[in-house]
Amino acid sequence: MTVRPDHPGAHTRYTVNSDNTVGPAPVFIPGRASERTGMATTYEAVQERITIRPRTWLVTGVAGFIGSHLLEALLKLDQRVVGLDNFSLGKPGNLVQVKGAVTEGRWENFRFIKGDIRSLDTCRQACRSVDFVLHQAALGSAPRSISDPIAAHDNNVTGFLNMLVAAHGAGVSRFVYAGSSATYGDRPGLLRVEPEIGRPLSPSALTTYVSELYAEIFARCYGFGSIGLRYFNVFGPRQDPDGAHAAVIPRWVASMIREEPVFINGDGETARDFCYVDNAVQANLLAAMADDAAAVNQVYNIALNEKTTLNELFDMIRSLLAPRFPHVRGVRPIHRASRAGDVRLSQAAIDKAKHLLGYEPAWRVRPGLERTIEWYAATLAPLHTIDELLLEPRVRFHGS
Ligand SMILES: NC(=O)c1ccc[n+]([C@@H]2O[C@H](COP(=O)([O-])OP(=O)(O)OC[C@H]3O[C@@H](n4cnc5c(N)ncnc54)[C@H](O)[C@@H]3O)[C@@H](O)[C@H]2O)c1
Repeated sequence: MTVRPDHPGAHTRYTVNSDNTVGPAPVFIPGRASERTGMATTYEAVQERITIRPRTWLVTGVAGFIGSHLLEALLKLDQRVVGLDNFSLGKPGNLVQVKGAVTEGRWENFRFIKGDIRSLDTCRQACRSVDFVLHQAALGSAPRSISDPIAAHDNNVTGFLNMLVAAHGAGVSRFVYAGSSATYGDRPGLLRVEPEIGRPLSPSALTTYVSELYAEIFARCYGFGSIGLRYFNVFGPRQDPDGAHAAVIPRWVASMIREEPVFINGDGETARDFCYVDNAVQANLLAAMADDAAAVNQVYNIALNEKTTLNELFDMIRSLLAPRFPHVRGVRPIHRASRAGDVRLSQAAIDKAKHLLGYEPAWRVRPGLERTIEWYAATLAPLHTIDELLLEPRVRFHGS
């Protein structure tokens, strides 16, 4: 049986502000008020609504970076979670880490399906008795898709369509899916505003746009409610630092810790709107629970509305690593040619997500990086040499 969510008396209210924009009315929750203002944020209120009534969520791509954070957040809110992943990019170790971060009882609320969204049967099996879908499974990375456009299409378009068909067939209440800032393509200018997109610059950028179009068609033809989240350079613990297609933050952090060269493509004045993963988790939960009709069947930019250049990012990472890894103080970046098709500047307008979802990114770049670096320092610290190990009083070898 599909458990239907209902939100008695919990509808988000909107007020018209003095500048004629629409904003969520502040929600007051006695006993859970934010310490600063005495008023709960929309996100706090939504988390409370989620906790009060456990539901079943399907997270696809659950063994990946963002998916594993969604899993952790949902289990901590006492939800039941079905996770689907084929481990093409995700890692069992990410699930092990989530297991370590939640209680045994909460971990029992998780059911994992090792399977592939390219199979419609698998998608149908995963969507059975599910209330909300948070669809994250895809093959990201523009260069990867340029090397293998068929794989990008199969996983990101066919897989997406399978998930839409299965979720609609199972009668899920809301389908929230990962989109991408790549949809802006060659649109000139710094600020990205949702309706103004350019031409796609890679097969994977095309697939994210096609996903949005499919979601729109499912709304039009079948009345199916979805919300797309265009992520901009999400970063945080568990993002894979290895492989040819690693994102810039994990790659640089790992390279500095491992004393490998750090490359900057171009002059370093390329800028991005880097977004700590907890903000992306927030956006997913708000989107799943949004019950204002105007908020549904929309796409939203998810980032900070801030720009950080690669040179600034490099300095920040080096200064945050230096207290633990003194050798990084001397690290200098090696500049090399820009990658063809790289967008120079990208900053998200987030007014739409703020006004219609109540999205308020709680993590700015630096505190997010501090958390991220703590995690990489714990997991990637260089292996001790045998001499260092022998000096440690805890370590004893036979015969030493
Ligand atoms: N991280 C970012 O900055 C960013 C930016 C824009 C968009 N996105 C999108 O957000 C989503 C999550 O990104 P992420 O950074 O966590 O990536 P990730 O690679 O860490 O996670 C994706 C997960 O999907 C799984 N997967 C891929 N194809 C699958 C298939 N056919 N069947 C089942 N599972 C499959 C992978 O094994 C992996 O665990 C992706 O759709 C990605 O394109 C991410």
